[in-house]
Amino acid sequence: MQSTPNPDLLSFFSEALTKLAYQGFQQSKSVFSLAHKTISDRLTDTVIPSRQNLTTPLSPELLLELQKRRNKLCEIDWQDAQKGVYPVDILFDTFLPDFLRYYPEMWLDLPKIWTRLQQKQYQTFAEDIEKEGYPRYYLQNFHYQTDGYLSDSSANLYDLQVDILFNGVADSMRRRILAPLKEGLKTFSSLPPDQIKVLDVACGTGRTLKGICATLSKGSLFGVDLSPAYLRKANQLLSENPKKLPQLTQANAEDLPYPDNFFHGLTCVFLFHELPEFARQEVINECFRVTKPGGTFIICDSMQLSDSPEFEVMMNNFSAMFHEPYYQDYIRDNIGKKLEKTGFELIETQLHFVSKYWIARKPM
Ligand SMILES: C[S@@+](CC[C@H](N)C(=O)[O-])C[C@H]1O[C@@H](n2cnc3c(N)ncnc32)[C@H](O)[C@@H]1O
Repeated sequence: MQSTPNPDLLSFFSEALTKLAYQGFQQSKSVFSLAHKTISDRLTDTVIPSRQNLTTPLSPELLLELQKRRNKLCEIDWQDAQKGVYPVDILFDTFLPDFLRYYPEMWLDLPKIWTRLQQKQYQTFAEDIEKEGYPRYYLQNFHYQTDGYLSDSSANLYDLQVDILFNGVADSMRRRILAPLKEGLKTFSSLPPDQIKVLDVACGTGRTLKGICATLSKGSLFGVDLSPAYLRKANQLLSENPKKLPQLTQANAEDLPYPDNFFHGLTCVFLFHELPEFARQEVINECFRVTKPGGTFIICDSMQLSDSPEFEVMMNNFSAMFHEPYYQDYIRDNIGKKLEKTGFELIETQLHFVSKYWIARKPM
């Protein structure tokens, strides 16, 4: 007599195998990122030896703590997928075609970065780039990147650069907004899901919106960003999904082109550290204006000195190595106070790996 396989056992093995695959995937991205950074840092230090004086090596204890935080982030990412916050597939989302196509360009761009570093050039753009109409604080070569945020080639390299910077877990950090967003939207559970409207502010190349699309099967999604090039890239990525296409608009987050009380949820990932202090408050004010009473606003950005003083060396290294003119002010800013000053109720803050999250609600 043939015995039938126990479905519980099969599902246990399948889950264990998927988890192993996820861990292996994350591990390989971490090894690759570290190898890339080691080689590119050594090359840069050889070309510009004075750069070494700008940074302080991290202690073994700090490196261990970072590793622990990274592992914990991956575990939470896995758990959220298991709980059904989002589908397991998105844990394995890669940008392999972009990687194969644009990775060599990252290396070819290095000499231009060295020139800007040596000559302290922070605002250089190709001649054909339109610079009219942008706030002054925005016209910067953030991270020394060629053309700042204003060219297609910058948009093509951006996701690779960010993922390497964050040791392969940039998307896992972005996904930490999804559980609180889903939770916050429960306030509107009496509405048909397709009437729920969510805006991602400074959506960049669309990776956060891609996660939101996977999480909210219905609902209207919107993205806003100042960069036409990054929006073009976002449109490319998001139109791969045949079921849903967010509405993307070029606009300043300080002056959102939407009516009052329009969105049930708003998210904003990795924008605030690139804004001067006054603009951070302006963006929060605008986000408050367009949020419906009862709506949720979630900010994800770098950790700050007040909650992670042990990482001060790393934060100082970051602003010394990358051109981030507002970062030192950002890590000392009280974002919670700014949210509350506008009228938001701060529900909680969270820390994951090297990021901090503010979950706020507009009172009913
Ligand atoms: C570090 S990137 C983050 C992009 C994206 N949210 C992500 O998770 O990768 C910062 C983004 O903010 C956009 N940005 C900067 N200042 C802005 C402003 N005042 N209004 C709208 N977008 C802005 C930039 O064009 C860029 O796409």
